[in-house]
Amino acid sequence: MTRVAIIYYSSGGTIGRLAESVCAGAAGSGAQVRTTELPASDSGSLADALAALEWADGVVFGTPACFGNVATPVKRLIDGAWPLWQQEKLSNKVVAGFTAAGSEHGGHESTLLALFQSVYHWGSLIVPAGYADPAVRRAGGNPYGVSARAHRDGSVDDVALDAARYLGQRIAAFAALLCREPAGVAG
Ligand SMILES: Cc1cc2nc3c(=O)[nH]c(=O)nc-3n(C[C@H](O)[C@H](O)[C@H](O)COP(=O)(O)O)c2cc1C
Repeated sequence: MTRVAIIYYSSGGTIGRLAESVCAGAAGSGAQVRTTELPASDSGSLADALAALEWADGVVFGTPACFGNVATPVKRLIDGAWPLWQQEKLSNKVVAGFTAAGSEHGGHESTLLALFQSVYHWGSLIVPAGYADPAVRRAGGNPYGVSARAHRDGSVDDVALDAARYLGQRIAAFAALLCREPAGVAG
């Protein structure tokens, strides 16, 4: 069974709600799904998230936009994945991302691109949202991944939740196709 991990940080609940939709999409596509919320504090354990990262064929990261970049707890996990990278355990996974930002043009794309920059080093394969499904356009048309406007009350627009569900379906489909050991790829 294809294994999908959703790993996210959320301080106000927006990213958490999007994570639920990504989870529903991946699970609805038949994947086994593991969802892990990252601790806010530097002293919180990363053990669960690192175990999920190692376990998964497909990983979807969720992070708020923080000055156009990934939030510190997500960056802490990325840096903490160094031993997995050293052991070649991150190669050939598929990875996608979702974000939220307070402003309409407050760094949705730059946050996802910042996230993906490390993914190249891992040798994982990035799965962008593209425009392969109308749900992406309805949510504002971010081809890099799913993004939402963060509202003060923590609510999330239905169009963004739909796009997140689609992203879950999409990562499950690509994880099933490629899994961890595609023919002819060393590692
Ligand atoms: C330190 C910090 C930096 C932020 N930087 C941005 C930003 O660059 N652009 C933006 O639109 N919103 C920014 N925000 C707002 C967050 O992106 C928004 O509150 C978050 O996406 C909500 O997600 P959550 O409810 O899951 O925590 C920032 C918030 C914080 C705390």
